[in-house]
Amino acid sequence: MSFTADNMPNQAGKTFIVTGANAGLGYETALGLAKKDATVVLACRSEAKAEAAKNKILKKAPKADLHIELVDLTDLDSVKRFSDNFQSRFDKLDVLINNAGVMVPPYTQTSDGFELQMGANYFGHFLLTGLLLDALKQTKDSRVVTLSSLAHVQGSINFDDLHWEASYSKLKAYQQSKLACLIFTLELQRRLEAAKAGPISVAAHPGVSPTELVRHIPNLMVYVLTPLFLLVSHKPAKGALPTLMAAVQQGVQGGDYYGPTGYNEMKGKPGTAKIASHAKDEEIAKKLWALSEDLTGIKYSF
Ligand SMILES: NC(=O)c1ccc[n+]([C@@H]2O[C@H](COP(=O)([O-])OP(=O)(O)OC[C@H]3O[C@@H](n4cnc5c(N)ncnc54)[C@H](OP(=O)(O)O)[C@@H]3O)[C@@H](O)[C@H]2O)c1
Repeated sequence: MSFTADNMPNQAGKTFIVTGANAGLGYETALGLAKKDATVVLACRSEAKAEAAKNKILKKAPKADLHIELVDLTDLDSVKRFSDNFQSRFDKLDVLINNAGVMVPPYTQTSDGFELQMGANYFGHFLLTGLLLDALKQTKDSRVVTLSSLAHVQGSINFDDLHWEASYSKLKAYQQSKLACLIFTLELQRRLEAAKAGPISVAAHPGVSPTELVRHIPNLMVYVLTPLFLLVSHKPAKGALPTLMAAVQQGVQGGDYYGPTGYNEMKGKPGTAKIASHAKDEEIAKKLWALSEDLTGIKYSF
């Protein structure tokens, strides 16, 4: 039997954080968990959007235990405030879902001096995970699920110009950020294993799914590409299944990567996904990890 949101086990008593839970895949992930009686923290940057998402979920799952905590992943201070608030209100964390993301925006620097996609998609989540590691370690069978993408395959880590200050390619910057998320997942798992720490680190990708992620693509291009896009994509509720699988399925192992199993992993039933060989490069992973600790100011306490 294939994994679906309906047949996944009940999650009562478990606490999940979903970043970017107000839209697209994050919303569907939070909804799926809420319907299975989980406690879900909607980690969003806009209170109004988070409230709207919460109300929408409550209409479908009236007894859902939902909490809004604000976080802007492009701002390291905001990530620290989120972590403090969460830890003062919750005494356990079963699953952290690093879902929020942005794709191909015009060149923008975050307040911490990072290129926006690397800042929101990767560095913000790197810091968030490190700050929440103790909460995860204190919770039995806890997990970190990080969203990557098919885009990781074309990605490389541009160590010479990590913040794209010399020249900016919005697509390469997106690919880099999603590759960084997958490299991070695997390196985190290696470090957790070496420390014999309890949590596991896994990744997921949705294939292709029509969400607000295309907000920075010109309308005309979206219009022209939509018919093709609809052929190769599946609805966000389906796109969220690999994430849900990684988050709750029994037998998930640290370092696993889940995605759709149809043509070129673009859509279809969730299952094991392919990791490009360069995402498994341990030298690159160590270099990126050291840089990330440096730039975000956190030292992971395994
Ligand atoms: N859709 C796809 O086909 C696809 C394919 C591969 C991978 N993915 C990955 O899936 C994840 C979810 O994307 P999606 O398709 O669901 O996109 P989406 O509909 O645009 O949702 C993105 C979510 O991330 C939030 N977000 C963006 N920047 C943030 C920040 N600085 N701080 C906090 N939250 C922030 C957004 O909040 P606001 O609403 O406030 O902007 C929104 O809730 C991303 O990591 C993306 O890279 C998607």
